[in-house]
Amino acid sequence: MSVVIDPAFDPVPSLEHAPRVSVSAEVPADPQAVAVFVASEGALPAELDGLDRDALAAAGFSGAKHQTLILPGAPLRVLVGTGASGIENDAQLRDAVAAFTRAAKESGRIAVDLTGLLLDTGAEGEDADPWDAGVAAQAAIEGAALARYRYDALKSDPKTVALEELSLRLGEEHVAAAESGIERGLVLARTAAIARDVANTPPRHLSAEKFADVIEALAPGFGLETEVFDRQALMELGAGGLLGVNAGSVEEPRMIKISYRPADPEGHLALIGKGIMYDSGGISLKPSNAMHAAMKFDMMGAAAVFASMTALRDLGVGTAVTGWLMCTDNMPSGSATKLGDVLTIRGGKTVEVKNTDAEGRLVMADGLVLATEDASVSGRRPDAIVDIATLTGAAMMALGTRTAAVLANDDSIAEQLQAAADATDENIWRFPLDHRYRDQLKSNVADLSNIGGQYAGVILAGLFLNEFVDGVPWGHLDIAGTMQSESDDLWRSTGSTGFGARLLAEFAAAFEAPEAR
Ligand code: BES
Ligand code: MN
Ligand code: ZN
Repeated sequence: MSVVIDPAFDPVPSLEHAPRVSVSAEVPADPQAVAVFVASEGALPAELDGLDRDALAAAGFSGAKHQTLILPGAPLRVLVGTGASGIENDAQLRDAVAAFTRAAKESGRIAVDLTGLLLDTGAEGEDADPWDAGVAAQAAIEGAALARYRYDALKSDPKTVALEELSLRLGEEHVAAAESGIERGLVLARTAAIARDVANTPPRHLSAEKFADVIEALAPGFGLETEVFDRQALMELGAGGLLGVNAGSVEEPRMIKISYRPADPEGHLALIGKGIMYDSGGISLKPSNAMHAAMKFDMMGAAAVFASMTALRDLGVGTAVTGWLMCTDNMPSGSATKLGDVLTIRGGKTVEVKNTDAEGRLVMADGLVLATEDASVSGRRPDAIVDIATLTGAAMMALGTRTAAVLANDDSIAEQLQAAADATDENIWRFPLDHRYRDQLKSNVADLSNIGGQYAGVILAGLFLNEFVDGVPWGHLDIAGTMQSESDDLWRSTGSTGFGARLLAEFAAAFEAPEAR
């Protein structure tokens, strides 16, 4: 390539740094900033000696949710509003710690006092208790680390002050439980940061080939095995969807298979990720608008699968997991797939391409079929398949930027995905797999068309993918709306959100095979 790119460029800079986290009943030694949670009603915390509501109101601080006010001094005291109800669950704690960390942006050593929050903990062993100290510690770490995340790998003079140390204070009786949440919190924060790093990387810096190289280099360090399929290998597999989307590109495609194989696995889960390194739309070229400019993020599904798998060993996951990353860019050129061309997907089904911008489902189809064929773990098909893709603008139109769409052919998978969404505060909403729309995917010349009518775009894309799962219990996440944040928003930083990476890690960690069908 004739474009200058530093050969030493590192697409995953977040791996170079992790904060120190301590939990203790003692007041932390010398933080530069401490959080003081202040509800909008009720008595003020004792730390605010001398200040009353009127004084705070004069400074513009009412205690409304996520409001912050910095009181100078050493350490800085950062008031964080928690609204009328205070902090009631781990999602709200993650948000509040994120608001604090953003306000204290010049401070490398920060402290959060959880003693007040954890006062109400119920009896030991009640795992439904939202105030399990381990869960609270995990949420606090995720909130702090992810709020401090910033993509500055390509800035000559990055200004971000790294998070060096997070001190959590809580009652003596909670210290042991909280310690168990530290590792989880650090692992999951790292997981999301890995996904953000690779998704934020510009498309020229991270071709499909480079992505495969990066994953091959990093995988052994996370206890993962990889197998990379180049164009030749994909031709031998008959992966006509991935090859057809790649046809217009000067870059080679890559399918990256990642395996996590614990001893005596309890089950086998397959994860498929859409890895469109850049989606121009192909011959059905996108207009040059802000949405098009965001299409380096079109590999967020693949990023989330890879990133989630970096957590599996460290979380002690007992399920075998196989990741299939379907990677290429989608480009127009003299060799590009044309409208009316027919592609043969792995396994033999044919698809008429009526819009080259509906490319995600084409690459995913090959991945789904390969996953259904994979008997390498148990001698039979995987227990479940989950795919994740920035698939349709329709998902964004329907649910906006904070909630992803989920479709499933199996209630247990949908419920387990919902539980992971609740744990991570990566929200999802289930859409129906309404087979009455299936006729819209008929083609005059092939088995299927890659687009249907104008409406129900999320469902049509789901119905298309459903043609390739062969009845295996399956869930599909459409993360088109949630892949990026246009501004810093609590623990979501500008750019890639990393959405799906923590969700899939938590899902795999808690995975139970649906009843054999
Ligand atoms: N990658 C896009 C979907 C997308 C849109 C992701 C906006 C994130 C934000 C996908 O490949 C696409 O172009 N989908 C088309 C499908 C249509 C042609 C049936 C779309 O949604 O317009
Ligand atoms: Mn597209
Ligand atoms: Zn796309």
